[in-house]
Amino acid sequence: MIRLQNRTIGFLARSIFEVTHSRTTGRRFISLVLAFGVITTMFTLGNTVVVENAAVASRSMLASEAGVAAMRAGGNAVDAAVTTAFVLAVTYPSAGNLGGGGFAVIRTPEGDVFTNDHRERAPNNATEDMFLDEAGEYVAERALRSHLSSGVPGSVAGLLALHERFGVLPREAVIARAIELARDGFELPADIARQFVSHHERFKHIDSTRRVFYKADGSFYQAGELFKQPDLAATLSRVSEKGRDGFYTGETAELIVAEMARGGGLISKKDLADYEPAWREPIHGRYRGFDVHSMPPPSSGGVLIVHLLNMLEPFDLSELGFHTAPSMHLMIESERRAYADRAVHLGDPDFYPVPLDTLLSKRYALRRIEDIGARATTSDDVEAGAVPREPFETTHFSVIDADGMAVAFTTTINGGYGSGIVVEGAGFLLNNEMDDFSAKPGTPNMFGLIGGEANAIEPGKRMLSSMTPTIVSKGNDFILITGSPGGSTIITTTLQVIVNVIDHGFDMEDAVNAPRFHHQWRPNSVRFEAGIKQKVIDELDAMGHVNLYRLPEQAVIGDANSILKYRGSITATSDGRNNGGAVGF
Ligand code: DON
Repeated sequence: MIRLQNRTIGFLARSIFEVTHSRTTGRRFISLVLAFGVITTMFTLGNTVVVENAAVASRSMLASEAGVAAMRAGGNAVDAAVTTAFVLAVTYPSAGNLGGGGFAVIRTPEGDVFTNDHRERAPNNATEDMFLDEAGEYVAERALRSHLSSGVPGSVAGLLALHERFGVLPREAVIARAIELARDGFELPADIARQFVSHHERFKHIDSTRRVFYKADGSFYQAGELFKQPDLAATLSRVSEKGRDGFYTGETAELIVAEMARGGGLISKKDLADYEPAWREPIHGRYRGFDVHSMPPPSSGGVLIVHLLNMLEPFDLSELGFHTAPSMHLMIESERRAYADRAVHLGDPDFYPVPLDTLLSKRYALRRIEDIGARATTSDDVEAGAVPREPFETTHFSVIDADGMAVAFTTTINGGYGSGIVVEGAGFLLNNEMDDFSAKPGTPNMFGLIGGEANAIEPGKRMLSSMTPTIVSKGNDFILITGSPGGSTIITTTLQVIVNVIDHGFDMEDAVNAPRFHHQWRPNSVRFEAGIKQKVIDELDAMGHVNLYRLPEQAVIGDANSILKYRGSITATSDGRNNGGAVGF
């Protein structure tokens, strides 16, 4: 039963229009939507399209349009994904990137699944204690805002590797739109113009960054003004002409190393030349008869999503109901256990023996849920709630082509606008991904996550991620492509989209736009989006859950731009919490 709160009348009109005028997923509750009358949402920004052939849902309408144009021009889902990612580096600079890293999960029409890991790596001169002061205390400023905060970027190598292996269009074709938008500019959307202003305190001190995000006279860009990035266009052109040599050696590499020298960073020419993306065995699980494929370590996302679903499978969430205290209690308790496992067992598998078989086994999951009862358990230490300290961004997009090839893609420079440092002359921002390492055992990073040896800093190692690009399928009849930004909340956002579809029978749009909640073991608190009823939160309180925080209306969890193909009909939704775009044909 759909029990969404606070929808707007506009959205109602759109929903009813869609259920009555388009072919939608078989599980859309047409009669319920109509019978319930006024169903409203607090989210109105994103959009949903229902199409027959191919679609992209991303955080930027221009990027989604470019991805779809690639498929119309004969490209497949990977050409579209690579095109979308390059455009996001231009149109969504807080998270789209050349200077960061990401993960892609690809499912072919034959059902074969591949994953590409182009996560950043610690530079060779990185040391375990590089973010600690003389007293041994973690220095957040150094881990998040300095030249030391950047790992060796992996995005360009990953995108090119994806394109080389699966793409059918020429390389120049998948980069051309990004070059054009950077060179000729695009009308700056109001939300991005606002972001530039809100990052003013950071940007104003850094010459190279100021030159990109302010007008020549030093004033702020206004919404609707043309935003051009000529240095970024030149970097993209070098990549288009020379492939990885256009980034990892030659002029771009020299500009990165010069930037490091200016700010005391560690990335060397050798670090860049040595960078390689990795093709990794996907994580696979089964949930109520569906196949779940997701990202393996160095992401914790795939392991945790399967571990969480394994813990939830014995319970009838559908019967317990959507956003009821008993069903949310089970999800929170499973999350408590999964994130505790994350802190101890997960890290870069090239450096640390991650006990994958155990963590993914249903037997282990059953053991973990043995002590879940009617009342909340504790996370040992009760700490203050982790309300985000700053706007932070990653970005996820989903693609499907006319043959049913699917791509789930999540990319990041970690914090919004990464380290805030633009490489002088190259026009792109460097990541601050080094903060995803456990800088000091037991000390939380910017997402309140803790870790230990498994995720300690070592030269060449990849920092543990929560990014969870995921494809859930049942043959070719049902293909759900999802994932999200949101640091530690990525995994619980992805979980909720999957559970909303599989257990609660929601269609894509409702599954994405339904209010979310989040728990991560430590701190021992649960965050709820404003759309979740206070009555349910009170019931969870009575069950013994502690530190329950209802977020203010404008604070949202995740941005799950997702696609569901169900029996020949594709529904693509860009998350209503943000100003993205879903496009298809
Ligand atoms: O890889 C990770 O888990 C983080 N660097 C992701 C950061 C993030 O999602 C910030 N965004 N909202």
